[in-house]
Amino acid sequence: MKKIAYVTGATAGFGEAIAYLLAENNYDLVLTGRRAEKLVEVATKCKRLGAEVLEQTYDIQERASVEKAVSALDGKWKNIDLLVNNAGLAVGLDPFQDAFVEDWERMIDTNVKGLLYLSKAIVPLMIENQKGHIINIASTAGSQVYARGNVYCATKHAVKALTRAMRIDLLPHKIRVSSVSPGAAETEFSVVRFKGDIEKAKAAYVGYDPMVAQDIAECVLFVASRPAHVCINDLELTPTAQADSFNWFKE
Ligand SMILES: NC(=O)c1ccc[n+]([C@@H]2O[C@H](COP(=O)([O-])OP(=O)(O)OC[C@H]3O[C@@H](n4cnc5c(N)ncnc54)[C@H](OP(=O)(O)O)[C@@H]3O)[C@@H](O)[C@H]2O)c1
Repeated sequence: MKKIAYVTGATAGFGEAIAYLLAENNYDLVLTGRRAEKLVEVATKCKRLGAEVLEQTYDIQERASVEKAVSALDGKWKNIDLLVNNAGLAVGLDPFQDAFVEDWERMIDTNVKGLLYLSKAIVPLMIENQKGHIINIASTAGSQVYARGNVYCATKHAVKALTRAMRIDLLPHKIRVSSVSPGAAETEFSVVRFKGDIEKAKAAYVGYDPMVAQDIAECVLFVASRPAHVCINDLELTPTAQADSFNWFKE
């Protein structure tokens, strides 16, 4: 019997790699993102890998759009076994005093409020089924605050706190809640963070081997595929050249 996974931010980076790996591992998929064309491209590849796929194009910052998308799920699509809350971003890398409030709002609205809107909409379906697993993509920035990371780090601290809170409250419903907390991985993340400045984005990965999206996807699959009586609470991974947010070995 195939399982159903709902993966946010599937148009790029981790979400895209997670979608392919789940498609190869007996999951049908609901995939989301704002870029409709890219979403169709990813969905088509997942279908070639054997998955049935439902695409939902919306901005996770908009509560009404999130609720509408989840209430549009019908039939087997309501039996979500796995929710991967992956959509997220960093915008800017500026000292607190110079940072833009608009950037802060985008990060809070996407990484925290978007995750909350979607989880709040999907959890009742999981409660009805008395099963489910939520995997939140946090970050090493969720346990350590680095210079100029202020609000991004705060949103990822919130993701880790919410992971723990949801795990406690959902205990009676046998719903597992985990986080996967990566360090530096080369995706579109830095291009978004530096607002399209490709040179600055590239510089973030110079002098060491960063992780790639596949590394994170494999961890998500590992967390999701533990036996029902095991919950991995948090799985943190970094490039070998990164010990934590502060200690790097770059050549
Ligand atoms: N890369 C890293 O080094 C790293 C490390 C630790 C944690 N993370 C976290 O991992 C997650 C994925 O990051 P990534 O590296 O894969 O970045 P990415 O390549 O930029 O992908 C981000 C994904 O999130 C989606 N997204 C962003 N804003 C959205 C919105 N408002 N509504 C709907 N979807 C939205 C994007 O889709 P659309 O643009 O199509 O909407 C895209 O599919 C994020 O939560 C990030 O904070 C990344």
